[in-house]
Amino acid sequence: MLTLDTRKIMKTFVSLKPEAVWSFKNVARSETTALTHSYHRYPAKFIPNIVEKLLNDFTKKGDLILDPFGGCGTTLVESKRLGRRSVCFDINPVAKFIAEVKVTPINPTKLNSEFEKLQSRLSKKKKVVSNYHLNNDRILYWFDKKTIKELDFVYSEIKKIKNKDIRKFFLCAFSHNLKNSSRWLMKSIKPTIDKDKNIPSVVKNLLKHSRSMIKKNTQFYSLLKTEGNLKTSAKVLLRDSTKKFSLKNNEVDLIITSPPYVTSYEYADLHQLSLLWFGNDKKDFKGWYKFSSNFTDFRKNFIGTSYKNKQKGEIGSQIGSNITDNLYSLDKALSKDVSNYFIDMNLAFREMHRVLKKGKHACIVIGNTELRGVAILNAEVATEQMLKVGFKNPRIIKREVGNKMITPWRDTNTGKFTSMRNPNKKHAYEYEYVLIMEK
Ligand SMILES: C[S@@+](CC[C@H](N)C(=O)[O-])C[C@H]1O[C@@H](n2cnc3c(N)ncnc32)[C@H](O)[C@@H]1O
Repeated sequence: MLTLDTRKIMKTFVSLKPEAVWSFKNVARSETTALTHSYHRYPAKFIPNIVEKLLNDFTKKGDLILDPFGGCGTTLVESKRLGRRSVCFDINPVAKFIAEVKVTPINPTKLNSEFEKLQSRLSKKKKVVSNYHLNNDRILYWFDKKTIKELDFVYSEIKKIKNKDIRKFFLCAFSHNLKNSSRWLMKSIKPTIDKDKNIPSVVKNLLKHSRSMIKKNTQFYSLLKTEGNLKTSAKVLLRDSTKKFSLKNNEVDLIITSPPYVTSYEYADLHQLSLLWFGNDKKDFKGWYKFSSNFTDFRKNFIGTSYKNKQKGEIGSQIGSNITDNLYSLDKALSKDVSNYFIDMNLAFREMHRVLKKGKHACIVIGNTELRGVAILNAEVATEQMLKVGFKNPRIIKREVGNKMITPWRDTNTGKFTSMRNPNKKHAYEYEYVLIMEK
């Protein structure tokens, strides 16, 4: 049975019409990939235009912005561009690494000069410097020996760069290309081997992507310099957002985030190539060894994963409890996953409420889905949870989804993401919601 308040939430959602101004349909790709946004692939990034609009609508220069599921740093890049201080959390060390590189503008002259030197070193004869990667079974599973040798050569040449920011910049380009250089089926969001893949030249690929990143860095650097925002702080922290946030009560001016999805992306699996490659690099990737060597435990802490055991806790939403009850009779494991997801999100909403200033806003970009024929109303559940932890005055925006997903299709039987070729496909997230709530 649903209470009156819960019914009201459901009714509100049914009556929503998509708001064209939030769909950014006519925004060109060059705009969504501008600045440092296209440094590294990352699943389910949100488009920067949503973040920009929310920042302009709700904040002023100098305000503090939080993204508790920061991913590859879209919120931080936009905040820095507009002169807002920002902090993001993510449990994924690969996300942290990418986000840090993206918010670290580099003097273009210095960067170009290092690039020329790197280019010249890479034109010399390849030498294998270490056998570490060649002796690693999991790396051998993903890469052929010839490519590992080539990667090792490029990697060791990047490591010779003394300036930490510039070294990390090229390591980011290297990390982005690991997938192309491996046997990984490019369009797949599951770790799948592509038997027929032609592996491109590692050196050529690195140079090409670096050149594109260098252009983007110049754009970002010049813009920040002109606007006086080069020094605006943007902090990236490796943290589990189901735990206490490392922020004081009433400290944040605006929260912008798009939470993880339930049983869609296994972020840990998706980033295993970078984790594996850099796992032994104690200088630039301190502590990564524990993630790659203890991968099974590591991936259990991601919200929305199906690797997590059943956990106790409060869902904090009647709509949510109904959904997990309905799923239970159809698929107990799936019901456990969805219940874990709602419990985790409820913990995160509590913390969002605690750290936000009174009268300020939290903006959650979230989509609904369907699993085993049951509607998983993430947005309605989040609305109910947020109201219960103390948020008020909800403004709910429905928007048409453009180009956010790697694959916009789901299998109608399993509910999992699938390819366009699957005859049982169904559009996954045609619409999503922006929930704007006040504290
Ligand atoms: C939808 S993505 C966010 C993408 C981001 N908006 C962007 O543009 O890059 C959700 C993020 O939540 C992170 N995540 C999953 N579980 C988490 C947890 N327990 N604590 C913090 N972050 C978590 C994932 O690693 C992923 O980066």
